[in-house]
Amino acid sequence: MSNQIVVTGAAGWIGGHVCRVLRRLGWDVVGVSRSPEVAREKHPDRPWIGIGSELETAVQHAGRVLDLAGRNAFEQPWTSDFVEALRSSRIDPTVRIVDALARTRVRDPVLITASGYPACGDGGDRELADDAPARHELVLGSIDAEREDAALRAADRIRVAVMRIGLVLGPDGGAFPALRRPFDAGRGVVLGSGRQWVPWIHLLDVVALLTEVLADPGYRGVVNAVAPQPARHVDLARALGEVLGVSWQHHVPAARVARTWGGASELLLHSHRLVPARALELGFAFAQPDLGGAVKDIVAG
Ligand SMILES: NC(=O)c1ccc[n+]([C@@H]2O[C@H](COP(=O)([O-])OP(=O)(O)OC[C@H]3O[C@@H](n4cnc5c(N)ncnc54)[C@H](OP(=O)(O)O)[C@@H]3O)[C@@H](O)[C@H]2O)c1
Repeated sequence: MSNQIVVTGAAGWIGGHVCRVLRRLGWDVVGVSRSPEVAREKHPDRPWIGIGSELETAVQHAGRVLDLAGRNAFEQPWTSDFVEALRSSRIDPTVRIVDALARTRVRDPVLITASGYPACGDGGDRELADDAPARHELVLGSIDAEREDAALRAADRIRVAVMRIGLVLGPDGGAFPALRRPFDAGRGVVLGSGRQWVPWIHLLDVVALLTEVLADPGYRGVVNAVAPQPARHVDLARALGEVLGVSWQHHVPAARVARTWGGASELLLHSHRLVPARALELGFAFAQPDLGGAVKDIVAG
């Protein structure tokens, strides 16, 4: 049986980390990038393909896909053109992959597609397990919901897992470096009221969970990829303040957060109390279940 897997977004932050682990586990990883030459220079240890028709060919041949493509929501202001780019960079590759997987002759094909916590909308204080319905409420949430639909359309024929990924915390990418910046400058901040739930997860745990989902056929449908101990934003500020030894109680009103972060502020100001019910049920052991420990680990590098 071929051990090949196609990974979109393989040159990205999570993709780069997960591909290294997959290779260590013996997977033959084919990376997909809009700029395969640039990606090859950065990661010469794996073959790279572009996003032309070679994507369909590779997917059909491998029959296994980890679909992590998507323009970075923090990359630039959310103009209508950029929102369309956020959307198409997530939906178009997924739709094409689903079509190509319909033609694969590989036994036990699998598709693991990234979604994100905004897919459930703003849940207030309600716990949101993996079976929480997707809602077309928030801007990125609606895009994620559409992506989930696109991936799950293949679920009657192949194993599909849709990962509702939380706010990934790690030292070398994602939102964490920007979130810690004011703390490094000596004045920690609480964004908005601070009561909004932040569905965080440590980078190492999201990488481990993605590889676990690939290996374990018990994972199907939506899978919440968040830490088991949910926290409010104020807890994140407290953890950062305590680890970095600075004050952390300065509240920045939501309107000012929105002015500073633009559209991407919807990722920080809404409340998403996701719980990883399915992962816990299937025995996934989180390396960093506790926010204080995770922040300490990340800051220590
Ligand atoms: N980081 C988080 O906290 C977080 C939270 C929830 C969900 N997610 C989701 O997880 C996935 C990976 O996140 P990440 O943080 O690793 O993002 P990232 O570092 O920005 O990487 C995403 C990659 O997607 C690729 N990409 C962008 N536009 C594309 C397009 N039109 N077609 C094909 N590929 C395209 C890019 O690769 P090339 O430049 O090589 O083409 C980029 O490196 C994304 O779908 C994201 O929405 C992340």
